Amino acid sequence: MSIALLYERSETDELGIKHTADQLGIKLEFIPFRKIALTLFKDGYSFKTKGKDYTSTIKDVAVVLNRAQSKNRRLFASHILETFGKKVINPSLIEFECYSKLRTLLHFWAWGVPIPKTVYVPCDAVDTTPDGKEIHNEPDIADLLQDEIALNMGIVVKPDAGTHGRGIVLAKNREELVANIQATKSSITNPVGILAQELVEKWFYDLRIIVYKEKAKNPVCHPSALARGGFKDFRTNTYLGNLVFEAALPLHVKELAAKCARALSREHEAYIFALDAMISIGKDKPVDDETLKQELEKAALAFEPVKKVKRDDTKLRDFAAWNTQLEAAFQVYRNSEPYQKVKGFIEDSIEKYKSNVVFHEANSCPEFWENTRLASGLNIAIPYLKGAQSLIQS
Ligand SMILES: Nc1ncnc2c1ncn2[C@@H]1O[C@H](COP(=O)(O)OP(=O)(O)OP(=O)(O)O)[C@@H](O)[C@H]1O
Ligand SMILES: [Mg+2]
Repeated sequence: MSIALLYERSETDELGIKHTADQLGIKLEFIPFRKIALTLFKDGYSFKTKGKDYTSTIKDVAVVLNRAQSKNRRLFASHILETFGKKVINPSLIEFECYSKLRTLLHFWAWGVPIPKTVYVPCDAVDTTPDGKEIHNEPDIADLLQDEIALNMGIVVKPDAGTHGRGIVLAKNREELVANIQATKSSITNPVGILAQELVEKWFYDLRIIVYKEKAKNPVCHPSALARGGFKDFRTNTYLGNLVFEAALPLHVKELAAKCARALSREHEAYIFALDAMISIGKDKPVDDETLKQELEKAALAFEPVKKVKRDDTKLRDFAAWNTQLEAAFQVYRNSEPYQKVKGFIEDSIEKYKSNVVFHEANSCPEFWENTRLASGLNIAIPYLKGAQSLIQS
């Protein structure tokens, strides 16, 4: 019985999993999950592309690493394969919880994990009556939010299901708040009203923390997080071009991260989460913004060669050679003085304000090869593969 990688498109993360499996001597099967026909019939199923029949591959597989990119498709993929008797990382229950920011937050809250103050209003910005009249709910929704969160401190409105910081907007006055609510769109992925949060007074970065579990072992929080930072926007995720740094985590934060994983996974035996967390440091900043900005500018210059390698389109053709270049470029960036300085600022502030940490999201299929792996030192492909092996060895 073997391990399979299910994917929609083969990007660097999927190539990285394949590369790591080769290095570890683990045989990996591949299951495409786009132009395929899954057919259910009496007492059986088939799973085919136009050119190839994957049915027997699937029958022989024990564990599937689910790397479908769209949240809906990923949820379907886990359900399908579980129904076929396979173990999946991550299982559908975890996909279901991580799909929604509100569901995730509810579990964190129920387990006593600190979260940003969150308000959910199950009403869309605009309702349309059967005779086509529009009812505007924005002022009422804004009132409900303002009653709970002080507007002058900032109200963040975000889609319940989203990625890459898309649709996450900040308002500091009534006009902006009403406009932000107006701009929300109910859709298939976000059918459920308005989700809002207090603006966490983080400094210039947030954290991506990895927790994983193998069967019969405790969840492990990797001791270093990926810190993503910059002053471009209040959203600090890497997709928006922010810089990346390693950040060593205090025990308190690691313990909370493991609790987040327990809250979302119940009794599941093997899984991987990338948790997003922020540290509120308020106005008392450890270093003045000018000094910090200067170091960040220098770090941005030192990061340019890494970006250049990332843009290089040989990556999909000669992955191993491209990866060697990427690792070498990152090593130079990591050794640079501004990187080390900013890393020091981040780590000092985490240590000082660790009791102000809040967790706000869990990603069940994180991107990792180009940033998280290099900054945190953890190749997530390893816990994926070891987690899968642990499920087979029972
Ligand atoms: N309540 C908040 N207060 C302050 N900043 C916030 C808040 N919520 C989100 N952010 C900022 O916005 C960024 C994106 O938020 P979030 O992680 O919720 O969105 P996302 O679309 O899931 O992004 P990704 O896919 O990169 O995880 C965070 O990295 C953080 O910097
Ligand atoms: Mg996020």
